Amino acid sequence: MDLTLRGKNAVVTGGGSNIGRSIVLTLAEEGANVAVFDVDEETANNVIREAREAGSTGELSVQRTDVTDADQVGHSVRRVIEELGQIHVLINGVGWDQTSPFIGQPAEFHERVVSINYMGPVNLMRAVVPHMVENGYGRVVSLGSDAGRAGEYHEAVYAGAKAGVIALSKSLAKEVGRQNVTFNVVCPGLTIAEPESAGRISMWSQEALEYWTPERRHSAARRYALKRLGTPQDVANVVVFLASDRCNFVTGQVWSVSGGYTMM
Ligand SMILES: NC(=O)c1ccc[n+]([C@@H]2O[C@H](COP(=O)([O-])OP(=O)(O)OC[C@H]3O[C@@H](n4cnc5c(N)ncnc54)[C@H](O)[C@@H]3O)[C@@H](O)[C@H]2O)c1
Repeated sequence: MDLTLRGKNAVVTGGGSNIGRSIVLTLAEEGANVAVFDVDEETANNVIREAREAGSTGELSVQRTDVTDADQVGHSVRRVIEELGQIHVLINGVGWDQTSPFIGQPAEFHERVVSINYMGPVNLMRAVVPHMVENGYGRVVSLGSDAGRAGEYHEAVYAGAKAGVIALSKSLAKEVGRQNVTFNVVCPGLTIAEPESAGRISMWSQEALEYWTPERRHSAARRYALKRLGTPQDVANVVVFLASDRCNFVTGQVWSVSGGYTMM
């Protein structure tokens, strides 16, 4: 199936690591031009290099951007529009959390979680959606989490922020649907990075990777209907499909890519 992404221009936030990296590589493989917005410029550049080595001939670039900084986001978006002319696809990939009990968490931690996971997508939407509306075309896919649908142990504020991304996407889907801009959310289950594809400030620090021993992975997988954990490519496939014109009549939807961990 041709996903009709050849020559389309996409912005991917958090494209330097794990799931975002797979999304960038898959979009590039489909012939899209990709601008990666990431605070970790070096790791993001490695992903671009990988895409080129795999044969991508599209325009690939990195804009060092902190998604929590509205001015930086606005600046990077304007730059991409100047360089590529139009943004067709926006993927909100950045997310961050550290699991711990809610009781005892400092306010600064809560502010950081909300700022990255909720205000990041808000900043991107504010900068990109008016442009998409003006052009009468836009495909926005945001990374949510099953935590945002079902709640999750030791992830209270992150779950709330991800639920916010879902409500934001559904609301915008209703608001600007008539201008042919769609908004969908993909909720990965546990998707552990390979050490070589985790960015330098990825959630998948050395410590987090060491926590996920083979025994713990096996035990987590038993809670999934498909009895395995997901890969970044499992998630990227669905994100890229939703960003394509094959999903022209799909908006305001939330797709779990979690091997049946949640069903609702
Ligand atoms: N991996 C999982 O198990 C899992 C599960 C559910 C949901 N998710 C969601 O999927 C998305 C991707 O997860 P991942 O595991 O690939 O994450 P990751 O931590 O491996 O990668 C995050 C990327 O975002 C970049 N980044 C971090 N803060 C940034 C900021 N302020 N501005 C710009 N860039 C920033 C990092 O440099 C990195 O490249 C996230 O939204 C996450 O919440 C992941």
